[in-house]
Amino acid sequence: MNLYTPLTQRSLELRNRLVIAPMCQYSAVDGMPDHWHLVHLGSRAVGGAALVIAEATAVSAEGRISPGDVGLWNEQQLAAWQPITRFIAAQGAIPGVQLAHAGRKASAQRPWEGGRALAANEGPWPTVAPSALPFNHDWHVPAALDEQGIAKVIADFRVATRRALAAGFKLIEIHGAHGYLLHQFLSPLSNHRTDAYGGSFKNRTRLMREVIVAVREEWPQHLPLWLRISATDWAEGGWDIEQSVQLAKAVKSLGVDLVDVSSGGVIAGVKIPLAPGYQVPFAARIRRDADIATGAVGLITESTQAARIIDDGAADVVLVARESLRDPYFPRRAAQELGVNIEAPEQYQRAW
Ligand code: FNR
Repeated sequence: MNLYTPLTQRSLELRNRLVIAPMCQYSAVDGMPDHWHLVHLGSRAVGGAALVIAEATAVSAEGRISPGDVGLWNEQQLAAWQPITRFIAAQGAIPGVQLAHAGRKASAQRPWEGGRALAANEGPWPTVAPSALPFNHDWHVPAALDEQGIAKVIADFRVATRRALAAGFKLIEIHGAHGYLLHQFLSPLSNHRTDAYGGSFKNRTRLMREVIVAVREEWPQHLPLWLRISATDWAEGGWDIEQSVQLAKAVKSLGVDLVDVSSGGVIAGVKIPLAPGYQVPFAARIRRDADIATGAVGLITESTQAARIIDDGAADVVLVARESLRDPYFPRRAAQELGVNIEAPEQYQRAW
């Protein structure tokens, strides 16, 4: 097994183990992907990745992180994604999408505008969360979701799944990480509920399980479903790797094919021990103990480093984010460095 061995996920074959991680572009108007998204995602497909996962895509307008987020909450958005998925697929890459709801971290500025909660004159919208606890002292106080609100979240994921299929996506990743809505339910630090959605592990994981069931019902059996989680909150009393292993076991039986293992994001001001491949041990642990395929992500920037993760059996795929912004052809460069021949687009063959 190596970085360039294909991987079967249900009826799909990933041509290698390198995946472009979802990356918000904050460049949409009214949730509509446009030429930027086509060129951004398309060039990474040309770059040789097996799978290109489109950024956190909101299942509802209120679930956007910022006013610039893309969405799949209406038919216009569905139609706007179609030429993008078609182009990615034409390059031999699989078009994937990350479905997301930002919960209490919604209604925020784009990072380059400050990344803080939208001010009163910047068009903020009401936010929702498991409990009425703001992300930080200067963030919006969310409304605690009631039963009806929870049902709407599940229904929004369900309908967005239907649209993702019609839009031409072949793989869905549910965003359960980085302190967004589903993670907010998982973590005791952000979930203080006393009903069936809070308290015990079973209750805190309930919304995520219900969302997965709804998505899996809509998503064809022959197509894979991935889940991104934060394996730990890096904080006392928070979500941790033990719970992540338990969750991975539970979601495997619900039809999740791979857990994409990230970390952090649920509370502000946490110190994360950043280092090359710092999250890889979490992916390895979940892969071993929950017996499910995993993805490793986070400060993976070199070909030999990526190859070692697969060789060691720490993960089944490697997701690359920032290195692919520096070099969209990272998968081609890595192949060259590792002495592997991979097909180049006909137009570019004289370069390789
Ligand atoms: C991200 N990340 C991210 N994660 C996610 O789950 N959904 C998203 O939409 C985004 N958006 C996003 C935008 C940008 C510009 C960056 C740089 C990152 C996190 C990303 O997927 C990845 O997990 C981290 O960046 C760590 O991997 P790298 O960058 O060290 O390879």
